[in-house]
Amino acid sequence: MRSVAVQTDRELGGSASVLVRQKRDHVRLNELLGRLEVSAGAEQQHLLLKVYRLVFPHAFAEESVLWPVMRRMLPDGGTLTREVEREHQEVNELVTELEHIRPGDARRDEILDRLIDVLREDVRDEEDVLLPRLQSVLRPRQLQALGLAWEGVRRVAPTRAHPIVSRRPPGNVVAALPLTAVDRVRDRIDARLLTGLPSDSRLPRLSSVLTRLSHRIELLPVMRRGEDSSTRSSRRLPRLVRFPYVLKGAAGVAAFALLVLVVGGRSVSGARRGDR
Ligand SMILES: [Fe+2]
Ligand SMILES: [Fe+2]
Repeated sequence: MRSVAVQTDRELGGSASVLVRQKRDHVRLNELLGRLEVSAGAEQQHLLLKVYRLVFPHAFAEESVLWPVMRRMLPDGGTLTREVEREHQEVNELVTELEHIRPGDARRDEILDRLIDVLREDVRDEEDVLLPRLQSVLRPRQLQALGLAWEGVRRVAPTRAHPIVSRRPPGNVVAALPLTAVDRVRDRIDARLLTGLPSDSRLPRLSSVLTRLSHRIELLPVMRRGEDSSTRSSRRLPRLVRFPYVLKGAAGVAAFALLVLVVGGRSVSGARRGDR
């Protein structure tokens, strides 16, 4: 079976095919990782945000759309997808560690190096093993339909690390709405903070409140439904677990996340107006 890395778009089912879409993102990721390896300071932080925005929605759409199809179509689909789900889980845990590590901590470089290695391993496993297997059982039309479904989910998926959430449906699907809302507000605020321009002094505080909120939302048991024991978070983030649950159900979470979206949006646009 040939790696999708060496096949043409035509061989992969055309530009709409899920294989072409996957390969496009992987090429972009490799380019970002190359730059990340030699970066430092604010530039590194900026590149990390770009990597998160690319990797997390991409992986979320794999976990909720692609891997369930592989499990249905291939007799060894469970084993194959479990391996990449473990890699995704490790990426989620490493990024969460990076979020909580103190500035100047010597472990930061070690965690970053491991993150880059795991992301590269994930791309190789998918391009050399999983995706060619998917190609072997689906016709071009089916690859294109799957491409549309994968792209649709990717565009509305969470953009940050969520190590407690199940890597499988239905938990990850339930988690999508509230976590996407919170993550995308965080993205806007963090991107604003990294510009170096004067901004609303409340933004750093708002960013850390949203980080804590997203990890609290993750603790809702419904978001762990469907979880395979091999991808259960190895560290339950004790510091976060100590926080009391402030939201009692999925409806409450969704309503609160939407509120955050509105308030956060206003805060960012208010800061923008202030700069003019
Ligand atoms: Fe991928
Ligand atoms: Fe992946």
